[in-house]
Amino acid sequence: MAIPIATLNPSSECWDLNLFQRSGDANEFVLYRSSEYPITEEDLEKLRDRGTTKLYIAADDQQSYQDYVRENLGEMLQNEQVPPIERLSVLNQVTQDNLRETFDEGEMNDTVETSREMGRLTADFLSRTDLVAQDVFTMLNHDFHTFTHSANVCSYSVLLAQGLGVSDRDKLEEIATGALLHDVGKIGIPWSVLTKPDRLTPSEREMIQNHPTVGFRRLCRRKELSWGQLMMVYQHHERIDGEGYPVRIGGDEIHPLGRLCAIVDVFDALTSDRPYHRRRHINEVLEYLDREAGRGLDSGMVKCWMSIMSKKS
Ligand SMILES: [Fe+2]
Ligand SMILES: [Fe+2]
Repeated sequence: MAIPIATLNPSSECWDLNLFQRSGDANEFVLYRSSEYPITEEDLEKLRDRGTTKLYIAADDQQSYQDYVRENLGEMLQNEQVPPIERLSVLNQVTQDNLRETFDEGEMNDTVETSREMGRLTADFLSRTDLVAQDVFTMLNHDFHTFTHSANVCSYSVLLAQGLGVSDRDKLEEIATGALLHDVGKIGIPWSVLTKPDRLTPSEREMIQNHPTVGFRRLCRRKELSWGQLMMVYQHHERIDGEGYPVRIGGDEIHPLGRLCAIVDVFDALTSDRPYHRRRHINEVLEYLDREAGRGLDSGMVKCWMSIMSKKS
């Protein structure tokens, strides 16, 4: 299993994994460093100089590696030696892993707690760095798992909020956490329904279209969540023209955070593979968002997202 060298922390004391390198073109791996000899800062420098960004571990070691990364995540995110986009990539990977676990278990306390922790780290990291949104888009995964989508929507929500002038760290954290939770109503919907490539039956469609309401019900009694976060969950499928769901409210009746979440939600959905469509090219998706401005989506926010996404590194 490939691991980014950006996750390795020479000063950590809890390393007990063998590291491998790929040998030549063949699908063969040779031992680079056994667990008794932890990697040093010098080793990392040499690897970076050679343009090596990945090493490998045995598949059986995946759990120990994940524990290691969680343990060292805070320090890794501060490490100026590692390019910011690589650090965000690791943060995104850990976010996905954590969400996958809590979504699978379906335990709401853990899901909320994990989302708050990862939302805090994401908002904190993105407010300290100045990343180009296109680079973030290129780095992210674009598959159709709900945990991947939620982690993507989290980064995008913070970038859009920043573009709209939000710089308060607490506000960005609120938005990041709300984004991680926006689809919790999908937890429990059978995988076969979520990934069905054919037309949904009326009852399956109802199940899917209920997810904002189900999510809202699951979270609405939690004192640690704000009204804006709950509206990200409840209103991200409403449309400005009142043709969305679940309540068909429109315009300013939709909370600003609900409107913000709607844009990055549809952007990520269309630029990712879905069982019923291949991912579309980013330009095609931005054109679509532009057409939807003022109809389905908030036009000022779409304009902002287009300008964020048009910047090149
Ligand atoms: Fe949704
Ligand atoms: Fe979504």
